[in-house]
Amino acid sequence: MSLESLKNEAKEEIEKASSSQEILEIYSKYLGRKGLITELFSKMKDLDFEEKKRFGMELNSIKIFITEIKERKLSTIKEQTIHNNLEKLRIDSSLPGDCQNVGSLHPLTTVIDNIIEIFVGIGYTIFEGPEIESDYYNFEALNIPKDHPAREMQDSFYLSNDILLRTHTSPVQIRAMQSLKPPIRIIAPGKTYRRDAKDSRHSPVFHQVEGLTIGKKISFANLKGTLEYFAKSFFGEGCEIQFRPSYFPFTEPSAEVDIKCIFCEGKGCTICSHTGWLEVLGAGMVHPNVLRNVGYNPEEWQGFAFGMGPERLAMLKYSINDIRMFYDNDLRFIHSFINS
Ligand code: DAH
Repeated sequence: MSLESLKNEAKEEIEKASSSQEILEIYSKYLGRKGLITELFSKMKDLDFEEKKRFGMELNSIKIFITEIKERKLSTIKEQTIHNNLEKLRIDSSLPGDCQNVGSLHPLTTVIDNIIEIFVGIGYTIFEGPEIESDYYNFEALNIPKDHPAREMQDSFYLSNDILLRTHTSPVQIRAMQSLKPPIRIIAPGKTYRRDAKDSRHSPVFHQVEGLTIGKKISFANLKGTLEYFAKSFFGEGCEIQFRPSYFPFTEPSAEVDIKCIFCEGKGCTICSHTGWLEVLGAGMVHPNVLRNVGYNPEEWQGFAFGMGPERLAMLKYSINDIRMFYDNDLRFIHSFINS
């Protein structure tokens, strides 16, 4: 075979090759240690000087030519590989995304956060107490001695003679007064426990948010103003409230606070038992005995306290008719509050 056709054959084969390995194999077939062209170099020794010179130059130029073609083809293949890989990585931003399930806050958490936000906005800070309480904090210090009939209002889970799951957040009032210096303005959100059978309005575990203000010359008017501000912030500007005389051992005077029924606007319906009003919280002026129990002089310091149930508030605000919804963890219920 002539040198020229050997050269063209090598060129064609390399150009047709589709992988680096194939190229290197072809190259080696012609120019490797025992390659077809390499072998020709050994034939030079039999030629005379002029022939050797011409043949040598020709072989060298073919070698350079084929090596160049090999290099060019190798780099084309390398570029092609990079291009193909990038093509595979290309992101089509018009494709629909994978749906990611994002968690959401539990509706009760949202309501408690709302309540906290309203009070924090007017200078209250959060103060928390334990859910396992002593009889002293849960009752005694709050002016509810051992044989007091008010204890029956709150059927308790006792862990031992003297230790129980707190039945309300009011013991946090005592803890706050013991560890802070007056004036005081705190709210205490948290879980509370009572031995109630579950039904649409009762749950053995529920929540309360307690509020306590202690200062000098604090009057019932301050309590009214604060709770009116709260009710309007929580239920809307149009919300009206009324105070009804009531009894709690730790406040004197005591009141229950109602909002005008948001379902019938006060006209009377089944939800408000035709009274036009819905009870939402308990409140009153801190009883002098409670102040004395924490070493405060009632002549110098006065205060008001209030306690509300976020479940009840949420049920009214969002028309939920069964408290158990909060604890069943039915995702359809929980998701319906994502944007509220
Ligand atoms: N602790 C009361 C209860 O659980 C609610 C309450 C009433 C709290 C009046 C108060 C208050 O701070 O002043 O029924």
